[in-house]
Amino acid sequence: MKDWKKEYAHKIVSVEEAVQHVKSGDNIVFTHACGESQCLTTELVNQADRLEQVTIMHMVAMGTAPYCQPGMEKHFRHNALFVGGSTRKAVEEGRADYTPCFFHEAPKFFREGLLPVDVVFLQLSEPDEQGNCSFGISVDYTQPAASAAKLVIAQINKNMPRTYGNSIHLDDIDYIVEKDEPLIELQPPKIGDLEKKIGGYVASLIHDGDTLQLGIGAIPDAVLSFLGDKKDLGIHSEMFSDGVVDLANKGVVTNKKKTIDTGKFVSCFLMGTKKLYDFVNNNPDVEMKPVDYTNDPFVVAKIDNIISINSAMQVDLMGQVNAEMIGNRQFSGVGGQVDFVRGASRAKGGKAIIAMSATTGKGKISKIVPLLDEGAAITTSRNDVDYIVTEYGIASLKAKTLRQRAAALINIAHPDFRPALIAEFEKRFHCKF
Ligand code: COA
Repeated sequence: MKDWKKEYAHKIVSVEEAVQHVKSGDNIVFTHACGESQCLTTELVNQADRLEQVTIMHMVAMGTAPYCQPGMEKHFRHNALFVGGSTRKAVEEGRADYTPCFFHEAPKFFREGLLPVDVVFLQLSEPDEQGNCSFGISVDYTQPAASAAKLVIAQINKNMPRTYGNSIHLDDIDYIVEKDEPLIELQPPKIGDLEKKIGGYVASLIHDGDTLQLGIGAIPDAVLSFLGDKKDLGIHSEMFSDGVVDLANKGVVTNKKKTIDTGKFVSCFLMGTKKLYDFVNNNPDVEMKPVDYTNDPFVVAKIDNIISINSAMQVDLMGQVNAEMIGNRQFSGVGGQVDFVRGASRAKGGKAIIAMSATTGKGKISKIVPLLDEGAAITTSRNDVDYIVTEYGIASLKAKTLRQRAAALINIAHPDFRPALIAEFEKRFHCKF
């Protein structure tokens, strides 16, 4: 390997020195999710006292987001494109902002200056012989953000896997910080009986040769646990986790039947444990692509038999899906849900599935409701919605009348809530249930 350290010695600085180049008023983009550079984030917050009104933009934070802590508001303001556990309180209390957008739009926002970028913080693999560093586990909007930024600061971490698909050359980086630290990990969720029931229904909609998009959480993982005897499944998903590695090792996922990117796992970010990160490292079968490719509904629509599996917080009797708000509190975001619902619905043989428990709040709150909560956003519209699955079964809503939809949804609601939903049905449609 070429001695890049010699060639680029003038760019290698301490983390303190690299972050010194950030100025008050700058807009910084962080690499997304588990790809975030923890040492650059920590140092930025260490230097808070010299900084004012720095905006930090990214999708979900999987780190601790110290810039969102009370007391930081004079120094930092977070603009979230997706709200997560460590940023939710700050958004709720008005100390951070949320920008609604489809995930596939994020690169355009940065590229076209709708969200101006002064600085980008990257975390990259070690360079190859040609001096190219891989974006590793977070490719989604990283390259467009780096191209748009006036200043590119990169942590090079030998723990960042080298993935195929998208990279940046050392020439295009202004300051390099060498630090090998473990990547942020997401542990596999606990799969209980409830998730297994829902997973079983979803799995019944999946056939040999289908391609899967999997959202995050226990339900997608439960679905995977039912697919052990399927053949030639494919993956085209904005993200995937450890569960897919198990199926790949069993030979269940081969990607052979995919009508585009045949033979390849395609994704734009990864969240899991070292098992996943080792699986993708130098693996030519895994293509990490930008989100305006993976999530573009027109690209997704080219994949015959693609099945998208996502979740929701509420579905009303018309089939309108709220996947992101509790009343007027922004809980998460749209992420890639609508990108994949639209793509899968257009695809030949495609199915868009929203899978969720019938209740929440220890069984006291029905997720199937006459009306969405006041203030809640409609994530997936009634025109886009396709399958809704709960532990009580499957409701197929495409091409169904409002009356048929309401009836199908009541049949998969928790029995305790059915009488009230039926009363609403009879009032709304002037007929017996
Ligand atoms: N009313 C009140 N609270 C509700 C609720 C409702 N209708 N639905 C959920 N909640 C609460 C739960 O009680 C839970 O609270 P807790 O954290 O205090 O226990 C919390 O919201 C999370 O609910 P849960 O059902 O466990 O969420 P999840 O982890 O399965 O995630 C979504 C579900 C919808 C939040 C998540 O899938 C999401 O953000 N989706 C939108 C984006 C998307 O689909 N992207 C696609 C690819 S990643």
